[in-house]
Amino acid sequence: MRETVWISFVFGFVLLFIGCQSQEEIKRQKYITEGKQLYKTYCANCHQPDGTGLANLYPPLNGSDYLVKKDSVICLIRHGQQGPIVVNGQPYNRIMPANPQLSELEIAEIVTYIYNKWGNEKVVTDIKTVRNQLNKCPKP
Ligand code: HEC
Repeated sequence: MRETVWISFVFGFVLLFIGCQSQEEIKRQKYITEGKQLYKTYCANCHQPDGTGLANLYPPLNGSDYLVKKDSVICLIRHGQQGPIVVNGQPYNRIMPANPQLSELEIAEIVTYIYNKWGNEKVVTDIKTVRNQLNKCPKP
């Protein structure tokens, strides 16, 4: 009797665990799909659909060493970016426009897409992370 109770407990927890894992995976796939669409609309003109950028005008996202600074990436998507920056040793100095129209969810989806596609991540960047960071962005 005792053993049965114990076994059903363990079994229950295992199921719960698998359930949570797949919920998270469903969310990740959804963010990636939505993020890809948003990227096409708001980013691909300059950074190109494959993220390789355009000559010395628009820096790449694919393989970009700038992606380690995710906090800065979240801020620049919202507020834009100008002034000289260096990506993979190459200098750029053009204007990236701000995106005041994007919601926190949309920024989270774009960031999740970029980092899963080109930043070696297998996780979601959630709305809370984006909101916390947006509150900390330096005034442009
Ligand atoms: C009008 C062209 C344009 C659009 C549209 C644009 N960017 Fe940019 N982006 C730039 C330029 C130019 C820079 C470099 C700015 C500088 O020289 O200071 C840049 C820099 C960046 C960087 C940091 C450098 C790097 O390559 O890693 C990231 C990340 C980035 N953009 C992401 C995005 C995302 C995401 C979107 C869509 C929401 C987007 N950009 C839309 C032109 C653009």
